[in-house]
Amino acid sequence: MERRKFIQKTGAVCLGAIAGGTLLTSCAKVYYAQYAVVDKSIKVAKSEFDERSAVVIKDDRLPAPIYLMKNGASFSAVLMLCTHKECEVAPFGQELHCPCHGSEFTNTGKVITGPAEEDLKKFKVTTNEDFIFIT
Ligand code: FES
Repeated sequence: MERRKFIQKTGAVCLGAIAGGTLLTSCAKVYYAQYAVVDKSIKVAKSEFDERSAVVIKDDRLPAPIYLMKNGASFSAVLMLCTHKECEVAPFGQELHCPCHGSEFTNTGKVITGPAEEDLKKFKVTTNEDFIFIT
């Protein structure tokens, strides 16, 4: 199977099995985190990471969800919108893949494989003892 078609098919599977706030796929299990909007920041409880290292935040004010990842004691957040032609990327193992034309990004948004040439949009992330703030 041609690589691009494989990615398109697996991407469709990744995006096609949403059940009860959790996206179960053969390539990744995605958890949609609870959040609040406080002073233009998205506030997420650190407890959302008790059993996982990444969550997705779906805020209708944005053109795509945010992928929020924990790496040790720090967090990173990227917009899941491909910089090639704006398809929504999906988690695929430790990476984010675009189902439209096959671009691949690290889970912190850096381009691995084109045709996308720019990294995913990154958000500023700050924390306190109990919460993560995305701006
Ligand atoms: S829109 Fe993502 S690779 Fe083209």
